Amino acid sequence: MTAARQSSTHTTARTREPDRNLAVELIRATEAAAMASARYLGRGDKNQVDAAAVDAMRPVLGTVSMRGVVVIGEGEKDEAPMLFNGEQVGDGTGPEVDIAVDPVDGTTLAAKALPDAISVVALSERGKMFDPGPCFYMRKTVVPPAAAGAVDPEAPVDALIAAVAKALGRRTDDLTVAVLDRPRHTNLVAAIRGTGARIKFLPDGDVAGAIMAASVEQIDTGVDLLLGTGGTPEGVIAAAALRCLGGEIFARLAPRTDEERKDAIDQGYDLDKVLTTRDLVGGEDIFFAATGVTDGGLLKGVRFGTGRISTWSLSMRARSGTIRFIQTQHDPERSSLVARGVAGD
Ligand code: FBP
Repeated sequence: MTAARQSSTHTTARTREPDRNLAVELIRATEAAAMASARYLGRGDKNQVDAAAVDAMRPVLGTVSMRGVVVIGEGEKDEAPMLFNGEQVGDGTGPEVDIAVDPVDGTTLAAKALPDAISVVALSERGKMFDPGPCFYMRKTVVPPAAAGAVDPEAPVDALIAAVAKALGRRTDDLTVAVLDRPRHTNLVAAIRGTGARIKFLPDGDVAGAIMAASVEQIDTGVDLLLGTGGTPEGVIAAAALRCLGGEIFARLAPRTDEERKDAIDQGYDLDKVLTTRDLVGGEDIFFAATGVTDGGLLKGVRFGTGRISTWSLSMRARSGTIRFIQTQHDPERSSLVARGVAGD
């Protein structure tokens, strides 16, 4: 083979030189949080679950080569002293990034040992992550890649579901819609039922719900779209996942009170704007990591075995489109990621 031919073959085989994939490093942080919080499964105390996860995640994030600022953190909602908005994390080298953390999405799920609690971290380039300010909730519509360009998120629910069904080449009554099980969704639930579509009620945890809805083509979760109102931090984190997976989240800020509405408007938020996935997480360098705390449709939960702890994680990167499912065996005696057990607290 001539030198010219060799070089062109090389170019075809690889268009970019390999570089660092922070999502793989971030997995260690979500694994640590999942293992620590899973010790508190079924103990009925969601604050314990959260505290254990935060304590375990924070030092590991400190080892990741990045200069990170927490944009979506534990915040006021959880009155947490760590991983708060504006906190700097990382080892102080590497890229400047925005970070969104949810050491456990679904703390109540974990406290009750219900499915789909996950530990999550997402990164974007600095300044590219949406800061929801005073807004606690947003209305979310999440659709899989095939339906991303085919739906009007402001259309009535029946038209929206019909558009997704058409885009997927399926019947409306073959679709399953994930919805947080909340009284505020009574009308939404009636409208979905009116179309014949089925509903998967989420007791909590709409990050996992959004990923399940968007990943019809990569992961067979049986969920085809997600509708309803949930937390703004979880919406931004879901958007980071969707930038990696494909699919789309459309979101509209949904203030709970007149005071929250006024605060948001005073701070310059447009409450009528439909935010797209790219509005929520822009740029191209986006990394996402999640580890299962409890068993769920997306990931298996933590297993404490004899002499080892097993975790199941998802690592994704937007630029390369790489999606990894990682099963890890941790040695509780030797791994620095494993926190002390409950009895030692
Ligand atoms: P936590 O893990 O902080 O408890 O949040 C769980 C969650 O279900 C999110 O997934 C969701 O976006 C939000 O709470 C919904 O909020 P609310 O429980 O107020 O309806």
